[in-house]
Amino acid sequence: MLSLLASHAAPSQIQTPLLAVFLPAGTNGAPLSCPAALAPLDAALHGALGRTLQRRDFRGGRDETFVLAGADEGAQRVVLVGLGKAPGTRAQWRRAGAVAARVAAKLGCGGIAAWAQDAEAAQVEGLVVGLSLGAWTYPDLRTPAPATERREPVTSATVLIADSEAARAAFAFGEALAAGYAIARRLGMMPGNVCTPDTFVETAQGLAERHGLGVTVLGRAEMAAEGMGSFLCVAQGTPEEPRLVAVEYRGGAADAPPIVLVGKGLCFDTGGISIKPAPDMEWMKFDMSGAGGVMGAMETIARLKWPVNVVGIVGATTNMPSGTAVKPGDVVRASNGKTIEIINTDAEGRLVLADLLVFAKRYKPAVVLDAATLTGAIVFALGHNAVGLFGPDAALVDEVRAAGEQSGEPGWPLPVWDEYREQIKSDVADLRNTGGRPAGSITAALFLQEFVDGYPWVHLDVAGTAYSQSDLGWVPKGPTGTPVGTFVEFVRGRVR
Ligand code: BES
Ligand code: MN
Ligand code: ZN
Repeated sequence: MLSLLASHAAPSQIQTPLLAVFLPAGTNGAPLSCPAALAPLDAALHGALGRTLQRRDFRGGRDETFVLAGADEGAQRVVLVGLGKAPGTRAQWRRAGAVAARVAAKLGCGGIAAWAQDAEAAQVEGLVVGLSLGAWTYPDLRTPAPATERREPVTSATVLIADSEAARAAFAFGEALAAGYAIARRLGMMPGNVCTPDTFVETAQGLAERHGLGVTVLGRAEMAAEGMGSFLCVAQGTPEEPRLVAVEYRGGAADAPPIVLVGKGLCFDTGGISIKPAPDMEWMKFDMSGAGGVMGAMETIARLKWPVNVVGIVGATTNMPSGTAVKPGDVVRASNGKTIEIINTDAEGRLVLADLLVFAKRYKPAVVLDAATLTGAIVFALGHNAVGLFGPDAALVDEVRAAGEQSGEPGWPLPVWDEYREQIKSDVADLRNTGGRPAGSITAALFLQEFVDGYPWVHLDVAGTAYSQSDLGWVPKGPTGTPVGTFVEFVRGRVR
């Protein structure tokens, strides 16, 4: 992971291979003016910075970059990074930070310094997270290029912040959030034969060792004893031991009801007997992104030592076709006693989550948020731009929406009207596990709701947003880290 440092050094004084300077777009096409605090840097560059702005070679547009050669002393290079339209929100700074780090990665210069001494606390938070997102790589499974050809990966970032308590706290928050994102993205990027259900056990044990969290692990036998026939029918076709992993962070009062975060952890989803078509199936290694998001958020929350109780629960397994696999028409019984007719074995995420949501109740939660790459239909509804939000409590859904917006993970609500429940009624059982094509994301949410009992709840469908099949410029192709930011921001809102 990127090593992050905070410094109060002046931008003209810092020794760095690359100094990043972030500027918002001007108005009415007028040239940008050089911020007063950068006058000494401009002088060291013999006025190159001021001339670049004057000539409008750089206009501060979103994702815009311009690299200048540096002077003999101080910064060896300077990159101007556009923030886009003022005011420069946390999400804008996050994105610009990621763009800057990706420039550093392309140049192969190893390290970067980022100027944020005039930035507000929220902007510093965004920047620190963004630098880490942009510098992130997953090199584990690749043979390194020969040293002569290799571009140095970005291993360190120095953030030039103001000498204030607010700036230091913002830096610390950003660093903790970045660590959470790194865990989620790493788990997401790991192929299905590397990230197995036991990887979630190991990740939880790592959290326990670093931060003293409590860990509970259930395997096949323990889940059978709990009557989790819904989760277990998904795991029926795989020899891999399925895992229910719960991690408990206790920072609040002993009797304070916890926030419970629940994640779908399908280490791979073939569809099972209702097998998926081959094209693009490899992307189904990301079907554990909800669970990865839970693990990432737990890391951040534990690092920040917030005075709150938070429990993370993930259900990890692999959906496989085999002679022992569950098949269409089978009826299974979940741990709350409800029976489910399996119509399509590819609607497995809701089957795993059903037993997790019943399990969550034992923590007497203040609120439960679940995140899952649950439906392809959410991509038809909201594209790759928004998380689908579902729940009967509109105020709570809006609280999650606001947390997502704050963290640069926008979400949008869809209705969970009773009328849609008709679609998941079964001829033989209490429920069926699919509701047909119409409103597929909504019927999935309504299915989950059948297992929510007596606590406030919101479901996040992250199937369109947890990973990207194309390079987004500021985040490379692959895992985005969503929903770590939303989870953390929601918990932060409850701590305040
Ligand atoms: N993991 C998939 C959903 C998914 C699809 C995530 C595309 C990311 C991209 C889920 O388990 C699934 O297969 N859902 C089915 C449900 C259907 C059978 C009712 C779907 O969306 O097609
Ligand atoms: Mn599926
Ligand atoms: Zn799935």
